[in-house]
Amino acid sequence: MKTKILMVCLGNICRSPLAEGILKDKLNSKDYFIDSAGTGGYHIGNLPDHRSIAVAKEHGIDILDQRCRKFDIKDFETFDYIYVMDLNNYADIVKLTDNKAYQDKVTLLLQETTQDKKQVPDPYHDDNGFEHVFQLIDEACTIIANNFTKFKED
Ligand code: 4NP
Repeated sequence: MKTKILMVCLGNICRSPLAEGILKDKLNSKDYFIDSAGTGGYHIGNLPDHRSIAVAKEHGIDILDQRCRKFDIKDFETFDYIYVMDLNNYADIVKLTDNKAYQDKVTLLLQETTQDKKQVPDPYHDDNGFEHVFQLIDEACTIIANNFTKFKED
């Protein structure tokens, strides 16, 4: 059975598509199913933001296969781990269920890192923020991928 990991942000066009693409680049698709979704439904069916596509491409990652979707309550059942980018995403997801086991699946992505600030800033209104966001997500995904791989080897 594959381990299923969901990346969540508000729009599912800037941060979580990057997180999906970056983690897919670090883990094999035979053992891991990785997806992303947004808490808002503004951009359903759209490609990721062109600035996320560009920064991913600069780092050798192609995210052009992704299309925006909204988080669905069924995702709590489907996914083993749900990583959110900020505390608004956390609150918006956790309030959808009273099930403690489901709520416990939800973690701030940067919780995995030693960054002082545990939220990935929303770069939607900041053309220069995308490289910084890429680096923050990449740091967290490196740790997550290493932990999963180590765990499997034990
Ligand atoms: P994301 O960024 O949550 O990282 O995808 C945003 C994208 C779109 C909007 C807000 C944030 N929006 O308001 O349309």
